[in-house]
Amino acid sequence: MKAEELRQKFIEFFRARGHAVVLSSSLIPDDPSVLLTTAGMQQFKKYFTGELDAEKDFNSKNTISIQKCFRTSSIDEVGDDTHGTFFEMLGNFSFGGYFKEEAIKYAHEFITSKDWMGLEIDFVSVFKGDDNVPADEESEKIWESLGVEKIKKFDRDDNFWGPTGNEGPCGPSTEIYVKNAVGNSVEVWNLVFNEYYSKSGVLEPLMIKGVDTGMGIERLAMVTQKVSNIFETDLFTPLTSVLPHELPERVKRILADHARAVSFLTSDGVRPSNKEAGYILRRLMRRMIVHGADFENLFNKVGEIYSPAYSELNLNVVLEEFKKENDKFQKTLKSGLKELGKLESIDAAAAFKLYETYGLPFEILKDTEISGDKAKNLSREEFDKEFARHQEKSRAGAEKKFGGHGLLLDTGELKAVDERELKIVTRLHTATHLMQAALRQVFGPEVKQNGSDITAERTRFDFFFSRKVTPEELKKVEDLVNQKIAEDLPVGFVEMPIEEAKKTGALYFFKARYGQKVKVYFMGKDLESAWSREFCGGPHVSHTAEVGKFKILKEESTAAGIRRIRATVE
Ligand code: ALA
Repeated sequence: MKAEELRQKFIEFFRARGHAVVLSSSLIPDDPSVLLTTAGMQQFKKYFTGELDAEKDFNSKNTISIQKCFRTSSIDEVGDDTHGTFFEMLGNFSFGGYFKEEAIKYAHEFITSKDWMGLEIDFVSVFKGDDNVPADEESEKIWESLGVEKIKKFDRDDNFWGPTGNEGPCGPSTEIYVKNAVGNSVEVWNLVFNEYYSKSGVLEPLMIKGVDTGMGIERLAMVTQKVSNIFETDLFTPLTSVLPHELPERVKRILADHARAVSFLTSDGVRPSNKEAGYILRRLMRRMIVHGADFENLFNKVGEIYSPAYSELNLNVVLEEFKKENDKFQKTLKSGLKELGKLESIDAAAAFKLYETYGLPFEILKDTEISGDKAKNLSREEFDKEFARHQEKSRAGAEKKFGGHGLLLDTGELKAVDERELKIVTRLHTATHLMQAALRQVFGPEVKQNGSDITAERTRFDFFFSRKVTPEELKKVEDLVNQKIAEDLPVGFVEMPIEEAKKTGALYFFKARYGQKVKVYFMGKDLESAWSREFCGGPHVSHTAEVGKFKILKEESTAAGIRRIRATVE
């Protein structure tokens, strides 16, 4: 079964069992306490806590997604048989709909039934219990009732999930292990039963018990395609086969993994930099560059494999950003390698210096193909400590330089890494307000925002609407926005108590949490006569003509009753 067939089967199985299909969220999460999206449950956190109502938003208490994930923690493991930094996670979720019994039965049927995966379960694991949380005997009994005999009991490290970020839902989990082609048992599916909320390590019972499952498609492909590692599946062989034959196998695997991760991170708006997600992307790109710079074929293959399922992939931008990073890195790479050659061994201080002066990241120093065993005794922990110490120092310097305002903008909705991007996302932000007003003018008040996400490449706006928007209607919306841009309406805001602000008729986003005082941004002569009014924190352009030409790229459905529009400005 090809990976695409696995995706379709997963969707088919759970759709037939009443689950709403929800699109993957961006790799850049809404939750500011986590750097990147590591699991499918992240976009659903508020449905587990009851802050949001799944039935209202998805017409069902149960959902599934195929989530793009990135795990920094796997960077050091890439090259083995089962780990990737980027992967797609198939997951089913329930927010108070069903719990252990149904979740385990669904997973069992999907994995073992000849109509679905037709695999044999080697063993399952359940939580063995500790001082805070009792052993999960219920799951154990359910597995027994299904005839699964080999049930292992693992501790917190393996069979307890969460929370992601500072706090959140968490609970015991049960895992399914299947043998690969060479007889090694591989964890393919993790079913988490969220029954607690963790805050600073203290567990409180959750009001609504929920299910959160995750199955990496790469591993599922490995066991269904009967191969011995994820790199032999159809998700990776087209990638490794365009690489030079003489490269060692491990290097090929790293390059293939990183090419996928770089493509998805860049397409979701991450740009190489020296901090946070940008720093991760920089390390991935540079680790590729050390092994060669001509990866156009490799990236094009990533596009071929993934573009059908992921319309956000923008290979032009990926190649452009990769080339820019390559040009930058080439300036110091040779001297860096020369310097590295001179050293006998590399400790944390030397490693940091090689990064700071020549841009050689930790992974390259640890790469035996490049550095031999010079960094044998250097641990990631020591390096990170050294890095943090210097970052702290330079942050203090940077704050002074910019008068306390970093240039990076990240409101959760808008993301920009530098001034150039900040200008574009600001224009796109104003365009998004104009578009919501235009949609409501064309379709009436049924249109209501369900989230937006703005990067330097595009704005993405989700809204409630019961049917497809026709091309003629889209054109009408686009024309209306461009008309309001041409009118060059002034953009302003007033700050007022929230109750008063609601009375102005301004639109606000039901998912957002507002303070006692809010800003109402308006586009027009004054608040009363304005054509657009919304609760918003900004930033916006000062006159609509600054937005430029507005263009709708795409309209699609993300779930029942929810539409998504992507648009740009030129
Ligand atoms: N959130 C769980 C995981 O990622 C399902 O493993």
